[in-house]
Amino acid sequence: MKIEKFVTSGKFRLDGGEWDVDNNVYILGGKGGVYIIDPSHNAEQVIDEVGDRPVRGIILTHAHNDHCELAPALGEHYGVEVHLHPDDDQLWKESNGDAPYVPLTDNQQFELDGEKITVFHTPGHSPGCVVLHLPQDNVLLSGDTLFNGGPGATGRKYSDFDVIIESLRNVVFNLPGNTKVYPGHGDETTVGAEAARIDEYVARGY
Ligand SMILES: [Fe+2]
Repeated sequence: MKIEKFVTSGKFRLDGGEWDVDNNVYILGGKGGVYIIDPSHNAEQVIDEVGDRPVRGIILTHAHNDHCELAPALGEHYGVEVHLHPDDDQLWKESNGDAPYVPLTDNQQFELDGEKITVFHTPGHSPGCVVLHLPQDNVLLSGDTLFNGGPGATGRKYSDFDVIIESLRNVVFNLPGNTKVYPGHGDETTVGAEAARIDEYVARGY
């Protein structure tokens, strides 16, 4: 399926701190309909990029504010559901209060243009982190679970380094090594390139 990426800029806030951050936003699909993945920071930019294509839904890789806080307004704008793993409910409420979302489950599949989007629950960066596998495209949207250069950050609340390493070893690194990894921030990488460095990541502890 068609995969578009664009970058938005804003703030990441947690534990009383605030950091400038650039987020990768993805639009999956074509004229028949699209899913928006992690619409971040700039609703106008997202709406511009989507254009006149029908939106099927919004899928969030996790509920850190930079990934989730536009979702309720955009969900209303398009009249679609927001999908989030419920283990991030506490984080979601910090940004979005009682706004509704539909809970994601491990191994859940979405279908678009006859192709599958498979959800894998990969906790660690946050309890409700998921990655989205597009097997026909050999692509993994990794959110903040895996970046070019290592696992997502685990230094702040609700994060756990040992848990993210388990998610990488047991889920992400079981995908084919040539799977392209499109993360929530920064440059793409591959499953194989990152899997080859897992011992280094474990040794350094981040
Ligand atoms: Fe995050």
